[in-house]
Amino acid sequence: MRTQVAIIGSGPSGLLLGQLLSEAGIDNVILDRVSKEYILGRVRAGVLEEGTVELLDKAKAGARMHAEGLPHDGFSLAFDGRDHRIDLAKLTGGKRVMVYGQTEVTRDLMDCREAGGALTIYDASKVQLHGFETASPSVSYEKDGTTHRLDCDFIAGCDGFHGASRKAVPPDAIKIFEKIYPFGWLGVLADVAPVSHELVYANHPRGFALCSMRSETRSRYYLQCPLDEKIEDWSDDRFWDELRRRLPVHHAQALLTAPSFEKSIAPLRSFVAEPMRFGTLFLVGDAAHIVPPTGAKGLNLAASDVHYLFNGLREHFSDHSDAGLDTYSEKALARAWKAVRFSWWMTTMMHRFPGTGDFDQKIQEAELDYLTHSQAASTALAENYVGLPY
Ligand code: FAD
Ligand code: DHB
Repeated sequence: MRTQVAIIGSGPSGLLLGQLLSEAGIDNVILDRVSKEYILGRVRAGVLEEGTVELLDKAKAGARMHAEGLPHDGFSLAFDGRDHRIDLAKLTGGKRVMVYGQTEVTRDLMDCREAGGALTIYDASKVQLHGFETASPSVSYEKDGTTHRLDCDFIAGCDGFHGASRKAVPPDAIKIFEKIYPFGWLGVLADVAPVSHELVYANHPRGFALCSMRSETRSRYYLQCPLDEKIEDWSDDRFWDELRRRLPVHHAQALLTAPSFEKSIAPLRSFVAEPMRFGTLFLVGDAAHIVPPTGAKGLNLAASDVHYLFNGLREHFSDHSDAGLDTYSEKALARAWKAVRFSWWMTTMMHRFPGTGDFDQKIQEAELDYLTHSQAASTALAENYVGLPY
């Protein structure tokens, strides 16, 4: 089989790239090692920047997001028992974010892809990349006991942090930057009205908490927890009790609870691989970089990579210019590092680090106080949260 662009990974970055390429008449095939149902069962990010929303519109996959998503003009930073609103729209000249789950984004993109007849091969095992240092690369995989080969002009490695693409690059050709945080996030999904109509990020001596949502009737809540915590030790009651303790009293009293139907622990990590291009292979999204989730940047960063790569591929196939492809790695990394910095800063400011004492808590509270009372500092937070320009 032959295609113009072989896309490894049917997560948001692979699907968005595939949809933009298909809309531009560029042939592509997506391979994923798991099933469609498994991918749609993963609960991940929930906040979309305007740039991500615009890309979904450009891919003609934005209709349900506009109908069902919740545009948010601000969010709350809670500390010292009080709420402090960050007015995103006022601080950024009218920009806002869209609360719409990654699972729904993925479903919409899959539906569009199926409607357009583009090929996705799910349950493809042993995916291997070949010859990406040449102009005729290929990808091999096993499906139903048979080995197949996909020839292509380019490979897009959209296969996440644990994927095959980055691992295929010789170690001496890639530089890794990494920081592991000494805690994780315990996340819960429940069909109950959110505690507040906007997101609440809480800094508390017992640890960070986040109140988010998927709709007006579905809440997504997170608690900072030790890395060795076991999910079985967290009954719903224990989760709700701990969340109440970390929120200002008026939120704690207003918190509605219901049985959770998803509960998971995610580790927190900052990770960047440089460069993001190796001959005819391009790394995209989590395959190239990971950020801790505190700034809601992971999915949005995957989308901005797709923007740069799509433009480069379109110029290659329609204008016969490689200028966009040649600057892909540089442009994507410049934006990624700013999101890595912002996510690290939000994480550092909002979490309780083991082994630190009251002094560090006071410094965090002073920073939060400054941030919420200085227009200059709030503006810097807001412009990063809504997303830096592409
Ligand atoms: P992925 O979504 O990881 O997609 C990669 C795809 O490649 C997957 O479908 C996978 O099955 C496939 N694949 C992997 N290996 C292979 C292989 N060898 N061969 C073929 N296919 C392969 N971000 C936020 O902003 N907020 C959050 O709350 C948040 N929570 C998260 C929770 C978890 C548990 C994780 C893992 C991430 C979370 N993120 C969050 C980050 C965000 O979800 C990611 O940044 C986003 O999914 C990146 O999209 P992607 O398409 O690059 O990678
Ligand atoms: C969600 C996750 C985040 O990391 C964040 O900063 C905001 C919202 C969420 O899952 O809804």
